[in-house]
Amino acid sequence: MSLLIRGGKAFIGGKFVEKDILIENGIISKIGPSLDTKADETLHADNFLVLPGLIDPHVHMREPGATYKEDFYTGGRAAIAGGFTTVMDMPNNPVPTITKERLEEKIGLAKQKSLCDVLFHFGTTDNNFDEIKKADPQSLKIYLGKTTGDLMLHNPASLEMHYKNFPKNRPIVLHCGSSDPDPQENMRKTIGVIKNAASLAKKTKNKIHLAHASTKNDITVAKNYAKCTVEVAPHYLFLSSENVEKLGVFGKVYPPLRPEQKRIMMLSALELVDCIATDHAPHTPEDKENGAAGFPGLETSFGLIFDLCNNGILDKIRLVQLMSENPAKIFGINNKGMIKTGYMGDITIVDPKKEWVVDALEMHSKCKWSPFQGKRLKGKVHTVVKGGNVLYREYEFVN
Ligand code: DOR
Ligand code: ZN
Repeated sequence: MSLLIRGGKAFIGGKFVEKDILIENGIISKIGPSLDTKADETLHADNFLVLPGLIDPHVHMREPGATYKEDFYTGGRAAIAGGFTTVMDMPNNPVPTITKERLEEKIGLAKQKSLCDVLFHFGTTDNNFDEIKKADPQSLKIYLGKTTGDLMLHNPASLEMHYKNFPKNRPIVLHCGSSDPDPQENMRKTIGVIKNAASLAKKTKNKIHLAHASTKNDITVAKNYAKCTVEVAPHYLFLSSENVEKLGVFGKVYPPLRPEQKRIMMLSALELVDCIATDHAPHTPEDKENGAAGFPGLETSFGLIFDLCNNGILDKIRLVQLMSENPAKIFGINNKGMIKTGYMGDITIVDPKKEWVVDALEMHSKCKWSPFQGKRLKGKVHTVVKGGNVLYREYEFVN
C-alpha cells in the first residue's frame, strides 16, 4: 500500500515547504518537490497545509466504566475528526487505571475500538507502588487536587515516594488544584501546590509535566522551581469566569475558568508553553446539570488554536510544535510528531480558508454540547491519514 500526498504546503524540517510526501506500508518513505513516483492512491493537497498528525497528551476516553459519556469508538472518531492521530488517555475512570490488569484491559479495548492511537497515563494512589513497578508505564498521572472520580493522593508523603520510585527519564503528569470556592484563593492555593510539587521534583530529579495550566503564574512558578514542561488547554485561552455567567453549570471545569484579565495574560504567556492539550472531558448534559466538571475539546482544539494564528497571536510553526512535535518529544513517542522519512505516516491536512461554525450536534463525541457552540472559526481539519490509510477525507469519515 502506498499513498502520495501532492501539492500541499507541508511542515517539514521546522518550516512550511512545497513538497510531496510518499507513505509506503504505513511509513513515510520519500519527501521531495514534485516527486516523480506512482502510488496506489494520491491525495491532492493544493492550497492546504500538511501537518504531522496532531497529538493530544490529555484526554478522558471514559472506557471502561463511563461509556455513556464516551468510549474508545466515539472518542477515537472525535480525535480523528479533530486532526489527532494519537491521544493519551487519563486514568480517572470509575475503576481507575492503577493496576497492571486495568492498564492491559484499556490497551485491549482501545486496540479493538479506537481509530486513533491511544497511549495511557498510569494512575497513582497512596499505595499502588508495586503495581507501578509491575506495569512499568511510560508515564504517571498524579492528582494533587480534585478530579472527576476519587483518584488522588491523600498522604503528603506519597508524592515523594512516587517521585523516588519512578524512572527519572519518564514524565510524571501533575494535576495541581484547589477546591477553594473563592476565585482568588483558588488561584493562590493552586500555585502553592505547583510550587511544592515542582521544588520536590527538582530535589528528586524527576521529569515533571504540569497539566492544564490555567494562569500565567502557574507556568512561571512551575518553570522557576523545576525543569518542567507545561500544557495549556484551549479553554483557558478562550474562556474566562465572565463566560460562566452565560454557560452556567456548563462552565464548570477543574481548574476553574479564571478572570478575564488572567486569560489575556495567558495569551501573552504562550511562548512559555510546551504543548496544547484539550483535557477532553466529556460529560452528558444531564451530568453537567448534576455538577460534573469538564469540557469536550477534541473537535474544537485545532480550529481554536488556528484562530490564534489567524489573529497574529501565534505563529503557525509554533502551532505545529505545540500540537504535534512537542507532545511527541515530551512523552517519548518515537517516530511521530514530525514529517520525516522513517516516521509514521500520520498526517493531518488542513484547509486554512475553510470557514465554519462550532456545532456540537455535528460532532462525533457522545456528549453533544460544547462551551464553544456557535463560535465562528476559519481553518478546519480536512483530511486525516493514519499509518498511510486515509481515515477522514473532505470533512467526513471514509468508512
Ligand atoms: O474538569 C475536569 N474534568 N478536570 C479534571 O481534572 C478531570 C476532568 C474529568 O475527568 O471529567
Ligand atoms: Zn483531565
